[in-house]
Amino acid sequence: MELRPFPTVDELPVQKELPDPFLRADGKRIASPREWKSLREHWLALILHYQYGELPPKPRTVRAERTDEKTLPDLNAVRAEYRLYIETPIPLSTRLLLFRPRRRGRLPVIVDGDLGWGEPKRDIVEEATRRGYALAFFDRTQIAPDSPERKGIYEAYPDYEGGRLAAWAWGYHRVIDFLLTLPEVHFRRIVATGHSRGGKTALLAGVTDERIALTAPNNSGCGGAGCYRYQAPGSETIADILRNIPYWFHPRFQQFVGRVERLPFDQHIVKALVAPRAQLSTEALADLWANPEGTQITYLAAREVYRFLRAENRIGIWFREGEHEHSPADWQALLDFADWQLLGKAPARAFDRLAFAQREEVYSWRAP
Ligand code: GCU
Repeated sequence: MELRPFPTVDELPVQKELPDPFLRADGKRIASPREWKSLREHWLALILHYQYGELPPKPRTVRAERTDEKTLPDLNAVRAEYRLYIETPIPLSTRLLLFRPRRRGRLPVIVDGDLGWGEPKRDIVEEATRRGYALAFFDRTQIAPDSPERKGIYEAYPDYEGGRLAAWAWGYHRVIDFLLTLPEVHFRRIVATGHSRGGKTALLAGVTDERIALTAPNNSGCGGAGCYRYQAPGSETIADILRNIPYWFHPRFQQFVGRVERLPFDQHIVKALVAPRAQLSTEALADLWANPEGTQITYLAAREVYRFLRAENRIGIWFREGEHEHSPADWQALLDFADWQLLGKAPARAFDRLAFAQREEVYSWRAP
């Protein structure tokens, strides 16, 4: 199913409802899960085209140099520090911290790009390693700066047009390239998480790399797990985000300011592209800017695709009280979900509990 070249915004139809993810470009709805693969490719190309831009090319190699290693006092865990070198036309590197429990066997690993905001708090490292998870924290802003400056990957590829979210998602993939060379890493148990702009990035990383078994954006809102067509009062809109931080996106996304109804997708379809792999959104009820109610809507709408693929239990949402942060409670929820999805333990809590009344008017289609 090819739809190239993509129409301009004026040629796109007005769609008041969330677009139907099962509808092909020829106007027919797919009927069987076998047909999802090619439709998924079409959606992915379209979403990268209009919103994030393509990801940069895959580098020839990545290699890491360990600069430090120590045992953590009182924890049965090790903290190793690396510099990860990525071989692009102008070589890039980023700092990487790996916390791992001292135990035998292959470990699930949670990758998080938010190291630029500081090391994970001790109680998070303790809880994750106690449960047998490694944590790999890297600094996505060393891949591309969180500013309009075209440094980092943009110096390596001067014509590269993707926004920061795409460049950072590529950074997650490079960290995974390295992790998969370590004998202690379980290749089918890679988790991608991140907070806010890092959560938007983690979602895109999970969409674009099937090596990620569980995708877990935290408080990711606009451009992440939020919703564009349903904006709860006080939530960030396309106009807001592009006024403040246009460089996170492809320049084409500007065309949709004030014209959201012409957007040929909404973020429920971005989430659906992770299916049937596991995904969890963790949300804070007082984080109105991040549109937690809109994220409930995209969860329910994306779940239709999971249901269609007979993977309904692989998508979850979890709400807590409180504000915008990647709190220990969010990590607990992620670890509970990962224990269930990746390690096969019985779910320790419900991951389908809604926090808002359902809004029937936002979309009327259902899984075929
Ligand atoms: C700003 C931005 C949000 C983003 C947040 C963050 O508030 O508008 O979209 O999620 O920063 O990254 O903390």
